[in-house]
Amino acid sequence: MEFFIDTASIDDIKIATEQGLIDGVTTNPTLLSREGGDWRVRAREILDVVKGPVSLEVVAEDAAGMISQAHDLKKMGDNVVVKIPMTPEGLKAVKTLSGEGIHTNVTLVFSPLQALLAAKAGGTYVSPFIGRLDAIGDSGMNLVEEIRTIFDNYGYTTKILVASVRHPMHVLEAALVGADVATVPFAVLQQFVHHPLTDKGLESFLADWHKLTGGKW
Ligand code: E4P
Repeated sequence: MEFFIDTASIDDIKIATEQGLIDGVTTNPTLLSREGGDWRVRAREILDVVKGPVSLEVVAEDAAGMISQAHDLKKMGDNVVVKIPMTPEGLKAVKTLSGEGIHTNVTLVFSPLQALLAAKAGGTYVSPFIGRLDAIGDSGMNLVEEIRTIFDNYGYTTKILVASVRHPMHVLEAALVGADVATVPFAVLQQFVHHPLTDKGLESFLADWHKLTGGKW
């Protein structure tokens, strides 16, 4: 399973990259606006650090506008994945871009049939937003499972990119149901790096080493 980091914070991206935790990055207009400044400068900074796929989102609402923004984004780097919202115009744009060999990430997916349409249009990734579904009393993970079944039934190669992740259990469950990628906020990534028994075990190993050697190597 691949992990992407869901952020536009260059500091978080650098730390997670140095920890060897991430294969790519997803951003969106909200994450970029949280960081402020010039979004193009930030996008270039991210692309300088990350060699894997970096999702950058279009904001046009018509297919022609989305396609033109996608071409603009692609000029920033070969590893740019163009994020397109799951709308009728978005599907048109995905179909055209996929024909041009441009990788896309169909975002804001909340139903299995939306995911099926995104795959039929040729999307490279489809992003079910599981945390937002859980928040309205639905089940984000059922959605991921259903998408997995549909894609496997028909041999779609579109990757399931689990998004709107809120806690480590989301990542564990996504791995168990066979999602291809989870995009995870920095804080959640750090949560599952740590385990209290790891910290406790290390503390006692180091104390015993100190007894044995006075702390020397
Ligand atoms: C995914 O690519 C999105 O950026 C992201 O996961 C959005 O989710 P949220 O706004 O519900 O956290």
